[in-house]
Amino acid sequence: MAVISVVSSKGGAGKTTTTVVLATTLAEAGAKVGIVDADPNQPIVRWAAKENFPDGITVYPDGNQSNILDLITKAAAENQFVLVDPEGTASLTVAYAVGISDLVVIPCQASSLDSDQAVKALKVIEDHKRLTGKTVRHRLLLTRTPAAIRSLNLKQLEQDLEANNIPAFQVQLVEREAFKAIFTLGGSLQRLPAKSVSGIERAIENAEALTNEVLSALKEGAE
Ligand SMILES: Nc1ncnc2c1ncn2[C@@H]1O[C@H](COP(=O)(O)OP(=O)(O)OP(=O)(O)O)[C@@H](O)[C@H]1O
Ligand SMILES: [Mg+2]
Repeated sequence: MAVISVVSSKGGAGKTTTTVVLATTLAEAGAKVGIVDADPNQPIVRWAAKENFPDGITVYPDGNQSNILDLITKAAAENQFVLVDPEGTASLTVAYAVGISDLVVIPCQASSLDSDQAVKALKVIEDHKRLTGKTVRHRLLLTRTPAAIRSLNLKQLEQDLEANNIPAFQVQLVEREAFKAIFTLGGSLQRLPAKSVSGIERAIENAEALTNEVLSALKEGAE
């Protein structure tokens, strides 16, 4: 059993997309996965109501600061993996989810990110350390990065992250139509109708590479 929270202090960073990409990739590989929807807008619940909902996924709706620990504990007892998708603001819900997680994934849009913002994104981890003395395992995930050319900006950003000792996934979530299509058409990348959008195969490769890195991060010793 592993609990993974996908958090960022910035709205629109790619939390819900990352949550669904990881959950569906794990489920399509045969795992039992719970997703706790802790965003008042309930984006996971809306995605799950569409067609082609993958087997092996259970959605736990209406997570909030009073029930989040109970929901995560219940989901963890019933599944191999639990993903938590909170809203994009700092809140007690996020703090509780982080505290009970084995891994925190912090998505950041590469286009609007500089290293100062990356440091801000890590505040919730630092606050938890101040409260408990423990560092929750975490990784920054660059999202919506350009598929083709690697911009100068992105290279600079990767250097800044390394210079500031900010742990980041090597795999990035590339900007692709297929990642949007799972929300309009429902289901998973694997269940998108062939040719409904371009680049489905590449999106699946991207999702699998990220999932493998998440699994490796879970296996590593606590930092
Ligand atoms: N890799 C990607 N490729 C293409 N579009 C993406 C990708 N990641 C995210 N998006 C798009 O960016 C927008 C924001 O993504 P998402 O909803 O996942 O962010 P969020 O952090 O959950 O936002 P919120 O703070 O509102 O909960 C959505 O329109 C989504 O489709
Ligand atoms: Mg969201």
